[in-house]
Amino acid sequence: MLMIGSMFSAKLQAKIDFLKKKSLPIALGSIKFNSPLLLAPMASICNAPFRLLMEDLGAGGTVSELISCHGINYGNRRTLDMLKIDPREKVTGIQLFGEEPEAMARAAETAMDYKPQFIDINMGCPVKKVVTKGGGSALLKDPKSLAPYLREIKKAIPIPLTIKIRMGWDAEGINADEIVKVANDEGIEWVAIHGRTRAQQYTGLANWDYIEALAENSPLPIIGNGDLHHHETVYERLNSTKCEALMIARGALRNPFIFLESLAPNQIEFTGEDYWEIIQKLYQYTTESFEDERTQLIQIRKLIVWFAAGFPNTSKFRGILFQTKTIEESMRYSEDYFLGLGNSQKSINYSERFMTSGHG
Ligand SMILES: Cc1cc2nc3c(=O)[nH]c(=O)nc-3n(C[C@H](O)[C@H](O)[C@H](O)COP(=O)(O)O)c2cc1C
Repeated sequence: MLMIGSMFSAKLQAKIDFLKKKSLPIALGSIKFNSPLLLAPMASICNAPFRLLMEDLGAGGTVSELISCHGINYGNRRTLDMLKIDPREKVTGIQLFGEEPEAMARAAETAMDYKPQFIDINMGCPVKKVVTKGGGSALLKDPKSLAPYLREIKKAIPIPLTIKIRMGWDAEGINADEIVKVANDEGIEWVAIHGRTRAQQYTGLANWDYIEALAENSPLPIIGNGDLHHHETVYERLNSTKCEALMIARGALRNPFIFLESLAPNQIEFTGEDYWEIIQKLYQYTTESFEDERTQLIQIRKLIVWFAAGFPNTSKFRGILFQTKTIEESMRYSEDYFLGLGNSQKSINYSERFMTSGHG
């Protein structure tokens, strides 16, 4: 029988509390967050168990993965399951995508049953299947037709409506400033921006000069996003930015403590033992959220492998973990691996490209 601890030890909790105290609460529009560092939406990753863990580890708020308005309106069971928010979550938004305002408005009404604090619209997804239908970053192409689209969705819900965009469609079509103006006119609460164009997909670097200039002149709160992968980078940005908040996506996968470590870099070290504790917590959340063991295994295994990034012998560990057939087996190997790390510290090569496709 696998013995899994569901509470953090006093030692780990003390480290977490020490760093959490360094965070300043913020308000974006009418919503309050304990930290300006938020977890960005990620498809197939930002479900309730992962969001709960990230909140435990200092994320000021979270957003679901992108969810199809049509899937919701058809009553597709798998899509509706994606809307679930755990009552223990503090600040969570549901992100919807779709090209038709009426369908989006209906889906947003349904999403209200799941009690999100805000509804976010995905206007940054670069994936062909989404943009050819007019959703995701295709919505950036024509700021004029955006106004009635946003209006229709906004009037369907009694909670804040927010958008997550890119800088524009391509280098010739950079127009986030225009999009922000329309958003402001239509009563959108804030704009999160990933500092790349749709054409760039995930190549090159996020353009922080552009993000900062946008934030400086924006009538709405701007959340900056893109390439904040290292806690020192986040710390520096947080202390100099004109943005009201920052969103972190991929950085949280290789360093789940990034929301904490970015508040006071290099003051506290997290060891393999600490990683094993947070994996046990993730196990608890995952098994509570998903009934099907295969789903539990798929969800937890990939996260454990990302969390191991930069520790010794990760490729061997990854190989073993992906051969495990049950969640118990995965947890046993993880326990051996992470507890066997002793005081080894992570060494991640941040110049190597990491996960170069996504939905925003
Ligand atoms: C695997 C993956 C899935 C993503 N899914 C979404 C999504 O569902 N909705 C969205 O708005 N952005 C999505 N994104 C984009 C991220 O939210 C973020 O904008 C982008 O990764 C840049 O931030 P980062 O450098 O911190 O990763 C995804 C990114 C990745 C890597």
